[in-house]
Amino acid sequence: MSIHFPPLIAPSVLSADFSRMAEEVAAVERAGADWLHLDVMDGHFVPNLSFGAQLIKVLRPQSGLVFDVHLMMAPVDPYLEMFAQAGADHIHVHIEAGPHTHRTLQHIRALGVKPGVALCPATPAQAVEEVLDLVDVILVMTVNPGFGGQKFLTGQLDKIRTLRGMAEATGRDIRIGVDGGVDVRTAALATEAGADMLVAGTSVYGQPDYERAIAGLRGAARQAV
Ligand code: DX5
Ligand code: ZN
Repeated sequence: MSIHFPPLIAPSVLSADFSRMAEEVAAVERAGADWLHLDVMDGHFVPNLSFGAQLIKVLRPQSGLVFDVHLMMAPVDPYLEMFAQAGADHIHVHIEAGPHTHRTLQHIRALGVKPGVALCPATPAQAVEEVLDLVDVILVMTVNPGFGGQKFLTGQLDKIRTLRGMAEATGRDIRIGVDGGVDVRTAALATEAGADMLVAGTSVYGQPDYERAIAGLRGAARQAV
């Protein structure tokens, strides 16, 4: 399988107005989002807290979007079932979150959810080599996880390239997502390097016109290849 084009756009609700969350989710759905990215932070694996499964559960009946849940948590295993029941379509766990990512990914699949593995900037591509057969998405962090609105780390582009090669070598259909600091400029760089899913917090929810913002990211990616 090869890279999908154009890349999917997944707005991150971390940058949405939390006091109007259901409306904010509906707004990006109308504006052409492909997936909805939901960042769960535990104040331990990352130095910030966001929200948990309860928010995902109440949003689920209100949206037709694919719920792409990014768990920045350690430990993560005791909570997988909770997030599956809340309505996650995908669950990403960090390779750095514990010693048993292989088992964790198997567990996610057994719950009927698509598994993804996320890598922090300090983690080399090779760290996920032994779990590639178990994942549908690889999420490359292009910022240190924990906060929205950070600057894209261009040093991660080579890692995206390496992971694209590793994903192709499996012969399986694996998406490569990029998370952090994605805007029209960096969307083009990431797509060129082999990403086919772009998470965008500030560059969608921080803009006055979501439709224009999403179309802008897609257009930038289109020009890149
Ligand atoms: C960072 C989160 C990201 C964040 C991205 O820890 O995983 O998904 O929402 O926000 P922006 O697009 O503003 O960098
Ligand atoms: Zn994220």
